[in-house]
Order: sequence, then C-alpha cells, then structure tokens
Amino acid sequence: MSKEAPNQKNVIFDEIVVKRRSHRRFWQEFPSKDDIRSIIDAGLHAPFAAAAVGSTKDYFRRFFVLKMGSKSMTTAASLIFEEISTMASKLELAMENDTQLRENAIGFSNRLAMIKKIGKVPGIGTAPYFIIVAEKKGFPAVEQQSLAHCLENMWLKATALSLGFQLVSATAQMADNPEFCAMLGINPGEWALSIRNKID
Ligand SMILES: Cc1cc2nc3c(=O)[nH]c(=O)nc-3n(C[C@H](O)[C@H](O)[C@H](O)COP(=O)(O)O)c2cc1C
Repeated sequence: MSKEAPNQKNVIFDEIVVKRRSHRRFWQEFPSKDDIRSIIDAGLHAPFAAAAVGSTKDYFRRFFVLKMGSKSMTTAASLIFEEISTMASKLELAMENDTQLRENAIGFSNRLAMIKKIGKVPGIGTAPYFIIVAEKKGFPAVEQQSLAHCLENMWLKATALSLGFQLVSATAQMADNPEFCAMLGINPGEWALSIRNKID
C-alpha cells in the first residue's frame, strides 16, 4: 500500500495531469537509464486491446530507445525525412485533382511543405532520447488507440519525473517502411508505430 493518504494521492494525480505539457526544446544531458526504464514500464502498464491481439504468441508491445548522436538516430532521422518528403509530394499531387481533399488537407500539406523546405522533421533528433513504441496489429484494428494509452502513461510518468516529452506524429508513417522496420528488427506492415515521443 502506498504511504500517501487518499487525498494526497488525489492531489498529486491532479498536479501531474495539469503539469503535463508538450516540450519542444530540450536540455542535452541524458536522463538516467532508470528513469527511461520507469517511463517504459509505465507504458507497459497501459491498457492493451487483449481481444484484438489475444492469439499472438509474441509480445505485442515493443519499445526502441534511440540515443541522440547515435548512428541509429541519424539513420532514423534521414529515413523519416525522406518518407515525409515523399508523402508531401504525393499529397500535393492528389490535391491538384481533388478540391475536397485540397480544402481538408491544405493546412497539413503546408506543414509538410515547410518540413521539406527546412530539410528536417521537427522533433526528430533534438532530445537526448527518441523512443519508438510498436504495437502489434490485430483485429479489429485498434492498435493506434492502444498506443495512445501507452504514450499517455509514458507522458504522465515523464512529467512526474520532471522530464520533457514531445509527441512526434511523423513516426507513425514509418510502419510500412522496409528500411526503417529492418533497423528496428520488425516486419513492415505487422506493427503500428507510436505517433512518437521523445524525452529529455
Ligand atoms: C494525435 C496527436 C499528434 C500529435 N503530434 C504532435 C507532433 O507531431 N509534434 C508535436 O510537437 N506535438 C504533437 N502533438 C501534441 C499537441 O500539439 C499538443 O498536445 C497540443 O498542442 C496541446 O498542448 P499540450 O500538450 O502542451 O497540452 C500531438 C498530439 C496528438 C494528440
């Protein structure tokens, strides 16, 4: 049993929920491995879609921790940038012949064009750690919902540890990218990837 009285727990819980914010600038010191492990542990405690992935023999949630300055981080950043640039070009082309799509997607398309122009995806490689979470696809397809629960737990834990955290949506686009999946050691198309996150 925890030492806190029920009211203290409630107050602490509210504080963490209110303090959780997106961080987009990070200190360059590496947090301790214990902190990173405890954040991953919080993600493992998040609910998962048992009925959807029930028959899998393998574990259905995996975490990949990439360190700033490492070869894998550099490779990941370049592969994500390439993927986003391709996506930007495809979307621009599709919008040329589809007015409704143009109306709906113009804001997003402008953001992708900005990323192409600056030559890097904001939020990739800027924090000491970049954590990718993979959730096995099941039936029905509810892996993105499971990932959202997982990331929220991780985010709240990072907040409790006074560490910054940022979601990076672009990561989700890499789930079918053969080179990216090979780097992680997973089969393309079998896993959904977290709309990402990073920690300092
Ligand atoms: C589905 C989803 C995708 C998001 N993607 C990104 C992202 O790619 N980059 C980013 O900096 N923030 C991202 N965010 C964070 C939101 O921009 C942020 O939560 C929102 O602006 C509210 O600010 P707060 O988190 O500080 O409360 C995302 C949030 C959600 C729910």
